[in-house]
Amino acid sequence: MLKRIRVAVIGTGIGRQHIVGYAELPDLFEVAYICDLNRERAEEAAQLVPGTQVVTDFAEVLADATVDIVDICLPPRMHAPFTITALKAGKHVICEKPLAGSMADVRRIKTAAEEANRHVFPVFQYRYGTSYYALHDLKKLGLLGRPYVLSMETHWQRTPSYYEEQPWRGTWAGELGGVLVSHACHIHNLATHLVGPITQVAAFAETRVNTVETEDCAAIAMRSSEGAMITSSVTLGGAGNLTRFRACFEHLTVTSSDEPYQVCSVPWRFVAADPARQAEVDAIVAAAPHIPPRFPGFFTDIHRRLTGQPDFFLPEIEESYHSIELITAFYDSARSGRIVSLPLPHDHPMAEGWINA
Ligand SMILES: NC(=O)c1ccc[n+]([C@@H]2O[C@H](COP(=O)([O-])OP(=O)(O)OC[C@H]3O[C@@H](n4cnc5c(N)ncnc54)[C@H](O)[C@@H]3O)[C@@H](O)[C@H]2O)c1
Repeated sequence: MLKRIRVAVIGTGIGRQHIVGYAELPDLFEVAYICDLNRERAEEAAQLVPGTQVVTDFAEVLADATVDIVDICLPPRMHAPFTITALKAGKHVICEKPLAGSMADVRRIKTAAEEANRHVFPVFQYRYGTSYYALHDLKKLGLLGRPYVLSMETHWQRTPSYYEEQPWRGTWAGELGGVLVSHACHIHNLATHLVGPITQVAAFAETRVNTVETEDCAAIAMRSSEGAMITSSVTLGGAGNLTRFRACFEHLTVTSSDEPYQVCSVPWRFVAADPARQAEVDAIVAAAPHIPPRFPGFFTDIHRRLTGQPDFFLPEIEESYHSIELITAFYDSARSGRIVSLPLPHDHPMAEGWINA
């Protein structure tokens, strides 16, 4: 029988959705603890997983040697320090995005993980879904060819009530940035996972929608290591929420769904450049295995990794590093008006973060 992994969820905003995900996988995970300073919120979430312990003190979770994973769903500024503390206590860590507010902090987390011989699993759940898996199958089989262009839209709607709900939102100190840090990082990660790390960035970023400190609109042009030319349009001033991407490869054009929270869970459109190859493409797409979408897919992959089975495509800490490096490059380009080349040097002026640089 497979080992049931004991997890503690820290923070019950999006953490509640994580708990829903674990509850769908009762043979793989046991939610041992739910921890939130707001006991009422934690107790409400605990209804989803009867038998779990509700606590308000993170130290209580760390003191229990039977907890395997600490799942950090706290406000962004707390991610790096809580992740390092949990690693030092001998726990594997799942951490919501952004993993940290600087490239240097991601390196510190990586060192702490290596010293503790524990894993850090950054939350990039978009990739879990059958269509995205099919796209990778097509790539492996040579049916995509060279990537020409990718266009991405992250057009979400955030009104003043969103910021009033949690005072850390929209602040540099609490959220560590705006829409580039919080909402667009998922689709940017999908692009780099698909067509390689970003090598050049030109970005504009402005606050245009709400009266907040951080940016809520951006227009970005990028080039990836595989030569893809990428454009990303980002706003929190959309009418409703939409995330979408479209990629034109040498042999195929793919258009994603526009489902904002789980873009990969709804079937995508795959069109062969040569109509004579469409049947071959369709057969590969139809044969792709069912990948549970969003958090259950991600958590299943974590379980596979921790129990010695091959995972589908678990996000690694290196991907988190690139995600934070990319955000650093966005701010560098937007503030300087220059095209920025990556990888960024370790002594980049924003290596310790973009907030006070
Ligand atoms: N992956 C996604 O799709 C997704 C979606 C939404 C939010 N997020 C990310 O999740 C993180 C949390 O966002 P949120 O909207 O859930 O925030 P939130 O403020 O709604 O929830 C955070 C919770 O943490 C609790 N908390 C704060 N300090 C604590 C401490 N020291 N010990 C225990 N509990 C503590 C708060 O009481 C609160 O209930 C953010 O980084 C956000 O960017 C990710």
